[in-house]
Amino acid sequence: MQQNKKVFYITTPIYYVNDVPHIGHAYTTVAADCLARYKRLKGRNVLFLTGTDEHGQKVEKAAKDRGRTPKEHADLMVDNFKNLWKTLNITNDAFIRTTDDGHKNIVREVLQKLWGKGEIEKRSYQGLYCTPCERFWTEKDITEGSCPDCKRPVEHIEEENYFFLMSKYQTRLVEHIEKNPGFILPEMRRNEALGFLKNRILGDLCISRPKARLAWGIPLPFDENYTTYVWFDALLNYYSATKYLAPTDTEWWPADHHLIGKDILTTHAVYWSTMLMALDMNLPKNVFAHGWWTVEGQKMSKSLGNVVDPNEIIDKYGVDQFRYFLLREVPFGLDGDFSVNALKGRINGDLANDLGNLLSRALTMIEKYCEGKIPAYSFNISTEQQSEANIKNRFPIDIDLHMGNLQFHLVLFDIWSVINSMNRYIEETTPWKVYKQGNKIKLNDILYTLAQGLRIIAIYLYPFMPSTAEKIWQQLGLEKSFKGIDFDEEVTWGKDISGTKVCKGDVLFPKVET
Ligand code: ME8
Repeated sequence: MQQNKKVFYITTPIYYVNDVPHIGHAYTTVAADCLARYKRLKGRNVLFLTGTDEHGQKVEKAAKDRGRTPKEHADLMVDNFKNLWKTLNITNDAFIRTTDDGHKNIVREVLQKLWGKGEIEKRSYQGLYCTPCERFWTEKDITEGSCPDCKRPVEHIEEENYFFLMSKYQTRLVEHIEKNPGFILPEMRRNEALGFLKNRILGDLCISRPKARLAWGIPLPFDENYTTYVWFDALLNYYSATKYLAPTDTEWWPADHHLIGKDILTTHAVYWSTMLMALDMNLPKNVFAHGWWTVEGQKMSKSLGNVVDPNEIIDKYGVDQFRYFLLREVPFGLDGDFSVNALKGRINGDLANDLGNLLSRALTMIEKYCEGKIPAYSFNISTEQQSEANIKNRFPIDIDLHMGNLQFHLVLFDIWSVINSMNRYIEETTPWKVYKQGNKIKLNDILYTLAQGLRIIAIYLYPFMPSTAEKIWQQLGLEKSFKGIDFDEEVTWGKDISGTKVCKGDVLFPKVET
């Protein structure tokens, strides 16, 4: 087994196939894609996993309502996710479906192992059950007979079931979270998990459902009258995929990041961690819970009819525009609001005015004053050295730091500081006047500086807006592909691009009507 320190393993949640994808699904997946692309640029051996969660009551019910078998339903619905990821330019290396035989076998192996180790016990159980959430609650948790999560009525259920002995790991888990500040992020979610664990006695986890009540699940290997609780099955995807969907010459576990939404923090921070402890496996290095999007100030919900369909937004406004908005508008980790006006503002401002205009002005001048070729650079003019300095000094360090902290908005903020300083540089140096004065050296230096700056900016933009980055390179007359480039070499200012024939194309970002 090759234990390569450059391995980077990132996951999204696996999404339920009971419904079509919405902005929340797109959000986590775009964020994971951005990080995966960045790490590949930096030379890491990346495994980026996404997929679908196909068992359990929700999916069984959705299928029944449509007169399909659960598997037929899943087979139809999975394409909605796969197609959206294609449209959004998502570069996942693997796509897991929990109905894959490879996954089911590993879930059964794990269950058998835990059963053999005495980590699972059969018990008679009565409790309050929320069908939509597929969760048991205690009397204490519920208010007025309703589920604390979804607010729908809970039912009283009494049955024999299998329990994973989660409670015995409570102290160890608290210690792990306390010793590893980066394990759960952002910090408020870490505090939330610690609060949850410190203020109650952790119970054991019911991990089975009688087949008579729920047939659509993986049968327990040691009692075929029961199916596996959907969360126990689903969480194991992060491990099972590394065993049958990824190159087996690499040890992928533990994951570097599990990106999730804030509502599924407990299942990841508590259930998954304790499952791994029982299996004597390492915990993921980080679980990062992002916030939720409201829509035009309101909670997004089917009943309000305001669920944002990513396909519609992309059709109207473009893929990179949407990717940019998602990662720029709201700090990753906080809640945010989606509104068409805010999206349009970003498109017309940041994208069309700042970035699009910069490229267009630089190329127009290179065409007009330099016969369409990037001119040579004299390396001795102080204003140009200042522009170099903007991109050379703290910039790569800061970007790497913000990327490491998943603070995508700060990366974009820093990139835009450079873009804006380049726009100011055009205003200050007035190349059209320099041309009229016939100062060819100065003019060449200005235009070379703009082209070089744009070339490097495109590399940093690539994880966020891959097509835009490629278009910028193409218009600068450079290679189109970022695949396999040597990042450190490419982001150096010294890489000589003089003499390259530019090729001005369509505007990068057409303005939208407000
Ligand atoms: O929970 N804004 O799947 P899922 C941002 N199958 N994110 C949102 C959101 C919003 N308004 N609404 C939902 C599941 N989400 C399980 C995961 S992983 C082993 C199993 C996010 O399809 C939500 O936070 O219901 C969650 O991370 C994701 O959508 C998937 O939800």
